Amino acid sequence: MDARGFSVTRARYCCLVVLLSVPVSIGDVSYSVPEELKRGSVIGNIANDVGVDFKSLLVRKARLQPEGSSKRYCDINLNSGDLIVAERIDREQLCGQNTLCNLKYELVLEGPLDLHRVVVQIQDINDNSPQFSKDMMRLEIRESADKGARFPVNEAHDADIGQNAVQSYTLQRNDHFVVAVHTNIDGGKYAELVLEKELDREEQQEVTLLLTASDGGTPQRSGTVVINISVLDANDNIPVFNQAFYKASLPENSALGAVVVTVSAGDADEGANGEVTYEFSRISDEAKDLFSLDRKTGEIRVTGPIDYEEKSRYEMRIEGKDGAGLASQTKVIVDITDVNDNAPFIFVTSLSNSVPESAPLGTEVGIINVQDIDSDNNSQVRCSIQGQVPFKLMPSIKNFYSIVTTSALDRELQSEYNISLTASDEGSPPLSSFKTLHVSISDVNDNPPAFDEQSYSAYVTENNKPGTSVISVRARDPDYRQNGTVFYSLLSSEVSGVPVSSFLSINGDTGVIHAVRSFDYEQFRSFKVQVVARDNGSPPLSSNMTVSVFITDENDNSPQILYPAPSGNSMMTEMVPKAAHAGSLVSKVIAVDADSGQNAWLSYQILKSTDPGLFTIGLHSGEIRAQRDIAESDTMKQNLVVSVKDNGQPSLSTTCSVYLLISDNLAEVPELKDMSYEENSSKLTSYLIIALVSVSTFFLTFIILIVVVKFCRRRKPRMLFDGAVAIPGAYFPPNYADVDGAGTLRSSYNYDTYLTTGSRTSDFKFVRSFNDGTLPADQTLKRSPNETSELGETTEGGSKFSTLVKLPF
Ligand SMILES: *[C@@H]1O[C@H](CO)[C@@H](O)[C@H](O)[C@H]1NC(C)=O
Ligand SMILES: *[C@@H]1O[C@H](CO)[C@@H](O)[C@H](O)[C@H]1NC(C)=O
Ligand SMILES: *[C@@H]1O[C@H](CO)[C@@H](O)[C@H](O)[C@H]1NC(C)=O
Repeated sequence: MDARGFSVTRARYCCLVVLLSVPVSIGDVSYSVPEELKRGSVIGNIANDVGVDFKSLLVRKARLQPEGSSKRYCDINLNSGDLIVAERIDREQLCGQNTLCNLKYELVLEGPLDLHRVVVQIQDINDNSPQFSKDMMRLEIRESADKGARFPVNEAHDADIGQNAVQSYTLQRNDHFVVAVHTNIDGGKYAELVLEKELDREEQQEVTLLLTASDGGTPQRSGTVVINISVLDANDNIPVFNQAFYKASLPENSALGAVVVTVSAGDADEGANGEVTYEFSRISDEAKDLFSLDRKTGEIRVTGPIDYEEKSRYEMRIEGKDGAGLASQTKVIVDITDVNDNAPFIFVTSLSNSVPESAPLGTEVGIINVQDIDSDNNSQVRCSIQGQVPFKLMPSIKNFYSIVTTSALDRELQSEYNISLTASDEGSPPLSSFKTLHVSISDVNDNPPAFDEQSYSAYVTENNKPGTSVISVRARDPDYRQNGTVFYSLLSSEVSGVPVSSFLSINGDTGVIHAVRSFDYEQFRSFKVQVVARDNGSPPLSSNMTVSVFITDENDNSPQILYPAPSGNSMMTEMVPKAAHAGSLVSKVIAVDADSGQNAWLSYQILKSTDPGLFTIGLHSGEIRAQRDIAESDTMKQNLVVSVKDNGQPSLSTTCSVYLLISDNLAEVPELKDMSYEENSSKLTSYLIIALVSVSTFFLTFIILIVVVKFCRRRKPRMLFDGAVAIPGAYFPPNYADVDGAGTLRSSYNYDTYLTTGSRTSDFKFVRSFNDGTLPADQTLKRSPNETSELGETTEGGSKFSTLVKLPF
């Protein structure tokens, strides 16, 4: 309303100016009015101005006729003569940018016809704001643009003209740009952005500015545009790794292709400028074989066997380069971590091959060293001995252990040990290794020889041949070699004042004891000798043992007649009373035998008598008794030949004559001399009888011998090689009485004896039989050919050997 009012007053002032000038101009009326006046607004009183009475207008049919335009805009009020606005007048629409904008009319009056030119000048008012073609403008500026660079901006337009058109531009406050305003050749104002501070795309990719264009009207009007500036990239950035250096830890033995670490460099630039590729810039030859680098992704991968024990850390330099060649470097450190992939190793630093069995507890046998090339726990090794052995491990410095004995050793019990060592580390899973050490125990002479028996008893038949083997003793010594080699000897002593060495000798190597001389049972029956067994150690150890030697009796003594006195001068005659009855004791033969036992067991027999049947003799008592009553008819002189026989095998016998005189008076004895003659002649008869008995005995002996030999060979085929074999008791005669135990010995033994010529040879030398003539060796052999092979060299005849067979008879 104010504006409108202002326009009207101003228009009235103009009218005044126009009215004053009317008389000068001829018939023309001119008005100046602002645009956009209200409809019906009075522009001026045209009747007055042209000098016509407004009352006559109607009569004269006054009308306003526009020149060359169909639109009227203004009209005349015929009642008042005022020129009024008929419709809205928009200067910008009517005239655009023309500075002059006139509406031209002709006022036509009739009666009389009168014409007046009316010009209405339209004045501009500031009714339009400056306007940019778009609300938003886009600009692209390279970040490398220098300070002071100018960037034109589309001009803002204002439909108004003159002062009401765009007069100035202002830029919202910002960091980079100011605005500079310039005038076109057509007078229009335009703006330029001036770069006052360089852009950095990496800092700010887009800058938004608000540009305001203002006109010079009152009130002032303005329009804005948003300027959106994209900052374009320039390769002004080097690639930057996201870490100053990379550290990775990689277990050894990692699989091929495993990713170790990924390096990554950023480049703030765009496109190729920001595209980073990687490569090793410095890498050791060994690492080159183990690692690969992906050019594009920066992945470092394993390409070879990673072994901690070889190298535990790798360092490499990596260069990241952008498309334009700007590069930077980083460092990668790969620490290899240990994996328990090495078993411990047992080194034998020293080992004594043999330990003496006398070694005291804790004797060091060897030293071992265990090593594990892994690290930390994987190299912590535990070492132990497996199994039951008298050894243990003593930890020494670091990874050294001593193997020491834990108990006394005895070579004779166990002469060698296998020590099984186990070493395990503490990795997970743990790894182990094993080693077996061989330790042998060396001998010490700690065992004296020990005889198989506490004491030995040897039985030797008297009349033995010198050299006969008596007994074989043996002592054992479990020690080694010379420490266990036993030598035998006899301890010197005396038997009945005679050195024992004259009775016996011992083979030092074999322990076989030989008789040095022939023994006589009747001289002494037993003696003792001490045998010493000594080993060859140094010092030697020895033990002793007693051998009791018993001489056994042999029937080598014939019975001796004590009564009647055997022969010669003192002829004894026994008187027998004529009245002697049957059974009365007449005489007695008394005989003794130096032998003992059966060999001394005498039996009596009447071999021959003058009157057989008159006298009888007690078989064992030797008592001669009358068998019947003596008769007158009986011969006065009775002669008896009595044989006294012992029970030995063979038995020995003696005969004696007993002279009996049947008489009650000694004076009746007529001729003693005759009797002696007769005695002499009967001696011959006795010899004949003895010879006969001997021959028959011999024959019997021979038969029994053959039978016994044959039987014994069958039963005891190895008899020749046994020391002493007793013939079983079944072959003794049934009436045989064993009187052993009272110092008297078994009366009958059968010995096969042999001697060796030297120690440890198989060459036998046989003692010839004391009874060679009795039984030739070849005869025996013929009879038992089966055994010849066992006897070895028999074909060489009896000269090489002969059997000594002493048989019981
Ligand atoms: C020790 O080991 C060896 C060889 O393996 C073997 O012949 C010997 O019998 C073993 N000795 C013992 C006492 O185990
Ligand atoms: C016998 O024992 C002694 C120690 O008493 C020892 O020195 C020697 O080596 C042993 N001999 C053998 C053959 O073992
Ligand atoms: C025989 O051995 C005994 C113990 O067995 C010993 O006392 C004695 O001295 C030894 N005699 C000799 C002569 O060595």
